Amino acid sequence: EDMLKSLRVNRGRLMEDLHYTSQWGTGARWGEAPTETGMSRLALSDADKKARDWFVETTQALGCKTTVDAMGNIFAVRPGLRNDLPPTYAGSHLDTQPTGGRYDGVLGVTAGVEMLKVLADNWVETEYPVGVVNWTNEEGARFPISMVSSGVWAGSVPLETAHNLKEVLPGTKTMKEELRRIGYLGSTPASYEAMPMAAHFELHIEQGPLLEMSNKKIGVVKGVQAYKWFTVHIKGRDTHTGTTDLKSRADALLAASKMIVHSHRLATAHSALASTGILNLSPGSTNTVPGDVTFSLDIRSPSDATVTRMKQAILEDFQKIAAGEDVMGSNENCTSGLPLTVTITEDFSSPATLFDTDCITTVSSASHCVLGPNSNNLLMEMTSGAGHDSVYTSKRCPTSMIFVPCREGVSHNPEEFCKEEDCALGADVLLQSVIRFDRV
Ligand code: GLV
Ligand code: MN
Ligand code: MN
Ligand code: MN
Repeated sequence: EDMLKSLRVNRGRLMEDLHYTSQWGTGARWGEAPTETGMSRLALSDADKKARDWFVETTQALGCKTTVDAMGNIFAVRPGLRNDLPPTYAGSHLDTQPTGGRYDGVLGVTAGVEMLKVLADNWVETEYPVGVVNWTNEEGARFPISMVSSGVWAGSVPLETAHNLKEVLPGTKTMKEELRRIGYLGSTPASYEAMPMAAHFELHIEQGPLLEMSNKKIGVVKGVQAYKWFTVHIKGRDTHTGTTDLKSRADALLAASKMIVHSHRLATAHSALASTGILNLSPGSTNTVPGDVTFSLDIRSPSDATVTRMKQAILEDFQKIAAGEDVMGSNENCTSGLPLTVTITEDFSSPATLFDTDCITTVSSASHCVLGPNSNNLLMEMTSGAGHDSVYTSKRCPTSMIFVPCREGVSHNPEEFCKEEDCALGADVLLQSVIRFDRV
């Protein structure tokens, strides 16, 4: 027992694995030359395939049985003394944003692999099996539903919907085609029933500034805020910029601009968040008024009721903006011209999530064990601003998360950085959480 409590990860080896796997998908921007720091490992790309192959080979060499399901989720399982109950998993994702970093997702998977190495080095036999899972397309950056594959596993997203998802750019290939192309369209059903879990623990960088600001080392994550994603499509009319007076235009980009600004006003009024990260306009010519615009809208709040109220306001107010009404009450001297049509599609919704109290307790006792006497000053309970696969695993099995600080709270950016010491502490807490859960 005491021997188990004293198990710690090999810091250097953890960082080596993390940076080794970063050779696949190095690059700052879509189509640009590679850089030293950032990652661009879009889900189901050739780079993602290489990182997956590494995960499979490494975990098999450590004595794991690997299973690939119909969403390309990879489950690596190390047998226990008894195998009549499902494994306790560490999990996260190897895909990144198009302009992402080396820690978001990657830390959680490589720390899981390091956990397996520590167990093997010390000849530890766990009571029940222990596993590491790599979830497909967590980011939703290439195929635009985040956490889509854990969503299918949990029974929350239909398999067909996920398989038929088209990539954002250039928007032709589907998830199923790409899964098949890279050899990760598995034959095991993507479901909890086929691949059950006793529990799921996820180590992740915080992606926000709270831990760093307050000099804490570990975030004990109690839940995740709610969010919804929409696609807004505005149809106006393409016309000549030099010959069409302002009142005779149906300028889809002007309407979109008003909607985006208005979404921020609504977010401020509701103490919530609203963000647009994708904007496409057509035809894209200096001397043609754009008649067609599509943009993404992401709204978030810890409260489901707030997200619902924001949605209602957006649905009503965007129609008014398209019709030329001044919902901003600013009496701006900016003509709306002719009416336009707007269609708003809700693509994805994730309600506020509360993690399992036993798992939260497990993470905090693991943190006390790892951080030692001063642990009370180094721990912080928190709610995640970002979505994670743990949102979906928590619907089917006890789940919680471990956060570590990242520099200036920045993520989804090539400059994303987490200190070696903090990566290792987080990995130690992950290891201790999984071991403790196995014993209870
Ligand atoms: C998923 O990672 C999200 O928070 O968008
Ligand atoms: Mn992530
Ligand atoms: Mn991310
Ligand atoms: Mn995420």
